[in-house]
Amino acid sequence: MALYSEKVMDHFRHPRNVGSMEDADGIGEVGNAKCGDIMKIYLKIRDDRVEDVKFETFGCGSAIASSSMATEMIKGKPLNEVLELTNKAVTEALDGLPAHKLHCSVLAEQAIQAAVKDYYARTETALG
Ligand code: FES
Repeated sequence: MALYSEKVMDHFRHPRNVGSMEDADGIGEVGNAKCGDIMKIYLKIRDDRVEDVKFETFGCGSAIASSSMATEMIKGKPLNEVLELTNKAVTEALDGLPAHKLHCSVLAEQAIQAAVKDYYARTETALG
């Protein structure tokens, strides 16, 4: 059996939603100290939903595939559902990752949560 699923290879070779966002409403950046990989998620929020999402990942193929899949999974979703996205759901959507690559999908979960928290922190500040 191949180490990586077709879906992982597809999202690695053709990542969706790559890039940065100048007018993001929330930004989350996380890293893994062991491998040194870094993932950054940008969110555009409208009416408590993810209107648009972009990512920049300085990392391995599994991290890129995880970010790409995770951004597809949260696009258009309400924030309460976005906060419930787990690395397990991302991994399942990718038809699995090798055990030693599961931490790459954890980065996606953490980066998205950090971006939503950043959005909440900014709106609270704005409401003053
Ligand atoms: Fe660390 Fe993939 S090896 S994120």
